[in-house]
Amino acid sequence: MKALILSGGKGTRLRPLTYSGAKQLVPVANKPVLWYGIEEMVAAGITDIGIIISPETGAEVQGKTGNGEYFGANITYIVQEQPLGLAHAVQIARPFLENSPFVMYLGDNLIQLGELRYFLQQFSQQQPDALILLRSVANPSAFGVAEVDDTGRVLQLIEKPKVPPSNLALVGVYFFSHLIFDAIANIQPSARGELEITDAIQYLINQEKQVLAYNLKGWWLDTGKKDDLLEANRLILDTYLIASVLGEIDAQSQIIGRVQIGAKSQVINCTIRGPVVIGSNCHLENCFIGPYSSIANNATLIDTDLEHSVILEGAKIAGIHQRIIDSVIGQRAQLTLAPRRPKALRFLIGDDCQIELT
Ligand code: DAU
Repeated sequence: MKALILSGGKGTRLRPLTYSGAKQLVPVANKPVLWYGIEEMVAAGITDIGIIISPETGAEVQGKTGNGEYFGANITYIVQEQPLGLAHAVQIARPFLENSPFVMYLGDNLIQLGELRYFLQQFSQQQPDALILLRSVANPSAFGVAEVDDTGRVLQLIEKPKVPPSNLALVGVYFFSHLIFDAIANIQPSARGELEITDAIQYLINQEKQVLAYNLKGWWLDTGKKDDLLEANRLILDTYLIASVLGEIDAQSQIIGRVQIGAKSQVINCTIRGPVVIGSNCHLENCFIGPYSSIANNATLIDTDLEHSVILEGAKIAGIHQRIIDSVIGQRAQLTLAPRRPKALRFLIGDDCQIELT
């Protein structure tokens, strides 16, 4: 069994963060989204992992993630010259996948940790040609959508339909036998110019191949959008954060609940109410840091009131006396205050931005 993780594409929905970085490297609880997928594979016993990368962000993905040793895996990088679709990514990965059955995992998706192992077992025991996961969603038009009969058999799959036949979305985790390659060879690019994996699975259904569908019961998030990224951050901090303090905390500071603080970080006159994760080498002074906040390495926060937000590496926030909530602040971005204060603030700020409020 092999795994193929898709970490190419353009990441248009998380712009401006993704102008300068891969969306799959945006951190959730201070860990790149992509790494959760890799760790889930390894936990399920799959260590032979191919990762699809794009020419634009591939070096960054490869540089940060490495050859897999850190995860106990063996990672092969496969460059997709253009984002021509999920099925195209599978097609170009054939020399890596050979004829092995495989799990395909979209690098910006997160499913409840531990679930992958269960579906892998089902796939291995039943040996269908494809196993897909479905989940009811409020906005099915944004996804691949399945029409199923009363027995749960899949009748039809449609990619981003204007009039969805159901509210059952295709989750970004799929299991395939080598028959998927024949299916991909028999489909045409969609209206958006991509070879859709949804169409390839539909081809298998039309050929009366065995396509099993399971309803995903645990949570699932597609972190390609800001609110989903914040929700993923909340869920991971809520469920998995382990308290540990390596940095320095002065006597005036108060740490309440589950808080993780990395080495060489300094906390001066702050109240931190968990769950909160703070990376290493950060400087926090006169701050209130509220629940569900993740602050990456080398960040500086002074006179700041923050809650339910993700702060990327090297960002600086100083003198913002209104509470910052539901915000994602990019790498090295600077947010400072000029004398007069505006009423309300809500941000999605890209890497390298410098913002001074007047
Ligand atoms: O999130 C689940 C949805 O993912 C499914 O419901 C849809 O059926 C499926 O088509 C897909 O839709 P998206 O529009 O959300 O896919 P996106 O373009 O965001 O790409 C998903 C991941 O695959 C992302 O990490 C980027 C990567 N990718 C994408 C393309 C188009 C590649 O590596 N190569 C590509 O050519």
